[in-house]
Amino acid sequence: MTLQEIKQNVFKEISEAKDIKNLEEIRIKYLGRKGLLTNILKSLKDLSLEKRKELGPLANELKKEIENALKDKKEFLITNANFRPLDLSLPGKKISLGHLHPFTNLEKQINEIFAQMGFEIVESNETETEYYNFDALNIPADHPARDMWDTFWLKEKYLNKQKYLLRTHTSPVQIHYMEKHEPPFRIVSPGKVYRYEAIDASHDIQFHQLECLVVDENINFSNFKFIVLSFFQQLFSKEIKIQFVPSYFPFVEPGVQINISCPKCNGKGCSLCKNSGWLEIAGAGMVHPKVFEYVGYNPKQWQGFAFGLGLERIAMIKYNIPDIRLFNSGDLRFIKQF
Ligand code: FA5
Repeated sequence: MTLQEIKQNVFKEISEAKDIKNLEEIRIKYLGRKGLLTNILKSLKDLSLEKRKELGPLANELKKEIENALKDKKEFLITNANFRPLDLSLPGKKISLGHLHPFTNLEKQINEIFAQMGFEIVESNETETEYYNFDALNIPADHPARDMWDTFWLKEKYLNKQKYLLRTHTSPVQIHYMEKHEPPFRIVSPGKVYRYEAIDASHDIQFHQLECLVVDENINFSNFKFIVLSFFQQLFSKEIKIQFVPSYFPFVEPGVQINISCPKCNGKGCSLCKNSGWLEIAGAGMVHPKVFEYVGYNPKQWQGFAFGLGLERIAMIKYNIPDIRLFNSGDLRFIKQF
């Protein structure tokens, strides 16, 4: 091949090279040890001086041009390695959109119902001191009622002379709020709580509660009943009956267990309510005067009621979920149903 022929071919081949491997083949073809241009350069010594003077510079010049063209093309291929021309005829990729967890939806709905009834939504911490979780709620250290709440104690205990724990219920919010605010007020506070207890279909070690607290002058049990009933009727969008069963919590007096008529069978009896027609839904009562004393309120002037709902239990009733463990299972087949 003459220099002229090489010149005609090599640049066309370089411009058409699709990848680095291709480029390397071209380099070997022309500039390799037995390459076409290398052979010409090697044969220069056998030519007459005149011919050598004429062809030598041309061949060396061409070698440089080929080397530069190879280098430029290599850089281009590296920079554009991931470049794919846009093919508008390809079918689009389906983007699968996520959605909110059923539990998040429920929490939003509950907050909306209370907000509409004039309640403030309050947040609070999940790590608590023994004082807020127990003492200030009228449950001193030697009180047997502490056994009602199996507790995860934190190792960093005695920090600031306080024992720390993961709150066992949302009731400490009552104390935090009353310490900082003067009545009258009405608040709800949803959040995570923790209990060191055996897990089964209706008990978990981490679950959610919603605390409700109303304090005002002349607050009585009828006000309490009205709020609870309005809340459940809006939540289940149907007529719901409620039952107050005497119960004991040291921070309320009188204390009650709230039962609602089973929304699935309308109180007739089904598998959800174990044929009783009723579902246990919350602990509640009128705020104990001692709790008011702890936060510096005059119990003769102020009255209030409080209740603590188990939110998983409400979600299980509302969405017909048979096992509490499904919420945190991470099983997408469960989540996708909602
Ligand atoms: C309490 O925790 C009280 N703090 C409620 C209260 C608030 C009483 C204000 C008076 C005034 P109790 O331990 O019963 O009460 O829990 C309340 C609700 O939490 C229960 O009705 C139940 O729905 C839910 N719950 C309790 N333990 C678990 C658990 N391990 N897993 C899931 N839900 C639970």
